[in-house]
Amino acid sequence: MAIQRPKGTQDHLPSGSPKLSLDTRAAAFEYVRDTARRVLERAGAQRIDTPLFEEAELVKRGVGGSTDIVRKEMFTVYYFGDHGGYVLRPEGTAGIVRAYLQGGWKQLPAPLKVWLHGPMFRAENVQKGRLRQFHQVDYEVFGSTDPLVDAEAIALLVEVVRELGLKQVKVKLGSIGDPEDREAYNAYLRDLFTPHLERLSDDSKDRLTRNPMRILDSKSEGDQQLIAELGVRPMLEFLGEDAAAHFAQVQRYLTDWGVPYDLDPSIVRGLDYYRRTAWELHHEGVGAKSALCGGGRYDGLAEQLGGQAVPGIGWAFGIERLLLAMEADGVELPVSSGPQLYLVALDEENVPLAAKTALEARAYARAEFAYRAMKPGSAFKDAERRRAVWVGLIGSDEAAQGTVSLKHMETGEQKVVPVGELAAFLQKSDD
Ligand code: HAM
Repeated sequence: MAIQRPKGTQDHLPSGSPKLSLDTRAAAFEYVRDTARRVLERAGAQRIDTPLFEEAELVKRGVGGSTDIVRKEMFTVYYFGDHGGYVLRPEGTAGIVRAYLQGGWKQLPAPLKVWLHGPMFRAENVQKGRLRQFHQVDYEVFGSTDPLVDAEAIALLVEVVRELGLKQVKVKLGSIGDPEDREAYNAYLRDLFTPHLERLSDDSKDRLTRNPMRILDSKSEGDQQLIAELGVRPMLEFLGEDAAAHFAQVQRYLTDWGVPYDLDPSIVRGLDYYRRTAWELHHEGVGAKSALCGGGRYDGLAEQLGGQAVPGIGWAFGIERLLLAMEADGVELPVSSGPQLYLVALDEENVPLAAKTALEARAYARAEFAYRAMKPGSAFKDAERRRAVWVGLIGSDEAAQGTVSLKHMETGEQKVVPVGELAAFLQKSDD
């Protein structure tokens, strides 16, 4: 058997491939990225990029030592049989904050909005919508704690999703407070769970000492049952005055702007850097456990990485999961058309002339040519498969007269056009 791609990865395929689904179609990824670009850049976000691998220490300190990502899902980078302490990035935010600090972005006007898209890597148990290499669109804002920034970030996310045609989506919004609120909540959870230690999964026993809030995010059914039985109080009840006022203001803006959301008093994100506003975007067709997008505020992260303090907030969605949701909602991508002009020689000696005419036509149109001669009937069939708008035939008469015999594939209109007038003719027919 030929070599296969690694488990948990996908090829992005050309349109028309057998076994094509929306989440493996290269053009669909492009469509999502273009839509996100349009919405985010309209709001002033600048496109950036960071390396696909980073210091393991960055991810450990950024994402957090008690998270599944750091404990179980890191891809270590080996080279020359050694590893220099690098890992493939499991998410974008820690690397972007590093780039902020290293690049001196503090001098740029705040709030500074940036976005990136690219592959992320997590060695997860592979299942539908859960890959080892997946792709995120990531939006981050630096330099402001204003609740306006939080509300705008959520509004932009909703706008991207709407422009993509998604219907059954819900923003679940909560707050995980300031560090002291979290400490109080963790103390409460520790007291609550400790008498039931023997019923917790091994992972959650470990979470109880490191970061009890993580227990609420457990994938173990036994843990979830215990959580339900104990009637755990939500994080929102533990918010301090400042965090509560901030959260109320975020909600006020969203309501005022007509951005729909559901309050989720017990939101727990899968990464440790969050504080205050946190949210996820869910879709009925993809399953309650799989968020399409996660985001929140992370004001302490820069300091945690050893840098100067700078407040930050952002979100990232997984393009594959978004495409699964679009498929579930029956969203159709705009059909990409074939070449505007498809040139075919009627005899072998005119193939180079058809090629040359196509190359020149690329100055003003999307033009392709056939690499071998064909009879008109085959040329029309071939042009139809390629969804060409115009097919242009070049035989010995056309070659002698410097013309192309054009036929419109949809209307059947026919016209002999001198090569020198092709540009004007195609432009006119486009209007
Ligand atoms: P996250 O919730 O870990 O947050 O991931 C964001 C999104 O990436 C998820 O909602 C999901 O759509 C997608 N995703 C995550 N893991 C996988 C996977 N194994 N397979 C397919 N898709 C996946 C973050 O990554 C944060 N950096 C978001 C953020 C940005 N917070 C602030 N700024």
